[in-house]
Amino acid sequence: MKDLTKSMDGRTLIKDLTYIAVPQDRVGIVGPNGSGKSTLLNLIAGKLQPDSGEVQLGATVKLGYFTQEHQDMDDSMRAIEYVKEEAEVIRTADGSVITAGQMLERFLFPPAMQWTPISKLSGGEKRRLYLLRVLMGAPNVLLLDEPTNDLDIGTLSVLEDYLDEFPGVVFTVSHDRYFLDRTIDKLTAFENGQIRLHVGDYSEYEEWLAKNVPAQSSADKEMNSKQNTVQEPAASAAVASPAREKVKFTFKEQREYETIDEMIGQAEQHLVDITAQMEAAFADSGRLQELVELQRQGEAELERLMERWTYLNELAERIAGKA
Ligand SMILES: Nc1ncnc2c1ncn2[C@@H]1O[C@H](COP(=O)(O)OP(=O)(O)O)[C@@H](O)[C@H]1O
Ligand SMILES: [Mg+2]
Repeated sequence: MKDLTKSMDGRTLIKDLTYIAVPQDRVGIVGPNGSGKSTLLNLIAGKLQPDSGEVQLGATVKLGYFTQEHQDMDDSMRAIEYVKEEAEVIRTADGSVITAGQMLERFLFPPAMQWTPISKLSGGEKRRLYLLRVLMGAPNVLLLDEPTNDLDIGTLSVLEDYLDEFPGVVFTVSHDRYFLDRTIDKLTAFENGQIRLHVGDYSEYEEWLAKNVPAQSSADKEMNSKQNTVQEPAASAAVASPAREKVKFTFKEQREYETIDEMIGQAEQHLVDITAQMEAAFADSGRLQELVELQRQGEAELERLMERWTYLNELAERIAGKA
């Protein structure tokens, strides 16, 4: 995204947003209702055009978009037919093939239920089916708009595990602290007319806000008011995440531990590329400014990765010590 600006109803929702997604990026999008979260996803998906700036998708990008609006479905179709209409099988990162039926089963549609006509499914089941169809499209950039609103906890738990293994980029809008902390490591926060990019999960963002922004931001209030499952004030957030003293990798950390060296290599290479581009663009001050911004983001990302590397390796040592 380069200098993305978008107004709706005469209100500027997004102004000069520049962001470059890195491989396996996990970006949460938070903010009050009506602040522009869905608008941002629509811009990324090309469903809306920006007033200025642009969205550039890499040549290999295959988008999957779980939109907030309910989809029209042919009620007479059976669940499995609806999913197969997208694809009969998908291939996972390790090359194995998963059939539509297996995906349905994984997402809590047992074989008997797969032949149920859509008209007999509940609202939540239809949303789950729609999610499956999006995933069967084998996207490598996944946009999720408020999946936590109408998917049940069982489905969310399957989705969280699925995202752990998902090799692509994920942008997800959510008001659910647990889901965000579980799935993302960066936030795009709409706060009173400005967008803040925060590196860390939602609880870390809250801690950061508490330290750096005296009054609780409206984005934050919204988050708390919308939460029905985890409704505690920021101060007790730590209680809700008991993971601090564990001596065990989470599933997400295990994957991270296995890939972190490569991620750091990529982040370093990315910075080398930017430097080369800066040298080539020395006469073009506009482009140079963009590159400076990208360099800043790249350095922040590298720093985050280095911190994660330290954390993961220390944890690995402690695990080894315990074993
Ligand atoms: N199709 C539309 N036409 C005009 N205004 C719209 C349209 N969609 C959204 N908006 C306005 O844009 C603002 C942001 O909407 P949206 O991105 O859906 O917010 P969020 O997803 O953060 O709740 C809202 O104030 C809404 O009134
Ligand atoms: Mg929305």
